[in-house]
Amino acid sequence: MFKLKRQKFLFALTFLSIVSMDTFAAAQSHYLIAKRCLTDRLTSQAEKLASTQDFVLLKATDAVRDELIAAKADRTKLCGGFIDVSHEWLMKRKVKRSAAQAEAFLLEQIGSDKMAESNATSSYAVRYEKQVETILKNLNPQNMWADLTKLTNFQDRYANSGTGNEAAQWIKTTVADMAKLANRDDVTLWEVPTGGYSQPSIVAKIGKGDESGVVIGGHMDTLRGTSYNKKPGADDDGTGSVTVLETARILIQSDMRFKKPIYVIWYAAEEMGLVGSSYVVRDFKKKAIPVDAVMQLDMTGFAYKNEPTMWLLSDYVNADLTTYLEKLITTYVKKEVKYTRCGYGCSDHASWHKYGFKAAAPFEAKFGQENHYIHTSNDTMDHLSLDHMTDYAKLAVAFAVEMAEPVSKA
Ligand code: BES
Ligand code: ZN
Repeated sequence: MFKLKRQKFLFALTFLSIVSMDTFAAAQSHYLIAKRCLTDRLTSQAEKLASTQDFVLLKATDAVRDELIAAKADRTKLCGGFIDVSHEWLMKRKVKRSAAQAEAFLLEQIGSDKMAESNATSSYAVRYEKQVETILKNLNPQNMWADLTKLTNFQDRYANSGTGNEAAQWIKTTVADMAKLANRDDVTLWEVPTGGYSQPSIVAKIGKGDESGVVIGGHMDTLRGTSYNKKPGADDDGTGSVTVLETARILIQSDMRFKKPIYVIWYAAEEMGLVGSSYVVRDFKKKAIPVDAVMQLDMTGFAYKNEPTMWLLSDYVNADLTTYLEKLITTYVKKEVKYTRCGYGCSDHASWHKYGFKAAAPFEAKFGQENHYIHTSNDTMDHLSLDHMTDYAKLAVAFAVEMAEPVSKA
């Protein structure tokens, strides 16, 4: 009798904990590719579908995914992250998947994620010095600081929380207001839904043309916070988000016009395994929107030992485009440049790279010497250098102007 009661109680408890989850899609599975050093730390049961020496393909519940998030957040055991490949996996669902097919799928996914290790033979040139110098005069670091204050005041910007969606809507309204203020009819804004997550990515297209465009983006989401354990995400990736916003602001306010459209993007659900950007990239593919070059800004505010050196990621990117960024930094920002690797697809540039687009990713520090408060409630503005952020904003603006090619008056 007592046993039965206890069972009922346990059942009710389990049921309650399931329905109280933030997502009612609790039963939904996620197909994830994670570094083995990460899955080795899992305590919950997860279904391994295939593995290689370094990577494991998993069928994961929300609980397993959340455990991976916690494991990757433990920066004392630097290991790597995971990416969500549910869409790619489910696309092939009709075929009954054998272990061999799962392994082939895994190899295909990690193979396509490899860096274009080709030697750089950059043909990109610095061509619009006058225009870049002119527009850079309008860059206002105080705007970035104010925007960052706003973004870090949300309890979190989690991909499945109300405040995550509010943050997305705030960004969208802010850009719409910029366009209205500048009387521009060539700025278009839209949302790209993120599958099972409530936060959409936000895309702003500056310019009307359908030429091959330039993409500048950062992710706006953070991990999930609570009222006593907020996730301000100041550096990760509030810094990238406000840099992108300031770039949009000065491009929209300027009377400079370009041959190519500039797409300014705030990705949702990066922290959940690059989910938002993978929807965005597929949306561009589906609509056949051509893109020449992509810049990802994820963490630009922490200057290790206050050093002004600027860093460029050299894996999961295009080598020529990355070399070109070095040239832009030397010309316009006049800072020392160094290269570093994440060792895995650590941010949204990897989503573009995977689909064959040319991407580059500036980063705040050498990998391992970046801001170690990220993913915690201490990722706050007081650890950041506005000067360092401003250097990356200059780079983003120079990249937009040079790549999009100004036309007529400057
Ligand atoms: N901003 C980080 C990426 C990052 C962190 C780069 C530390 C370099 C050093 C990003 O938001 C992130 O957390 N990425 C995940 C992987 C992603 C696929 C979920 C990570 O690095 O664990
Ligand atoms: Zn992160």
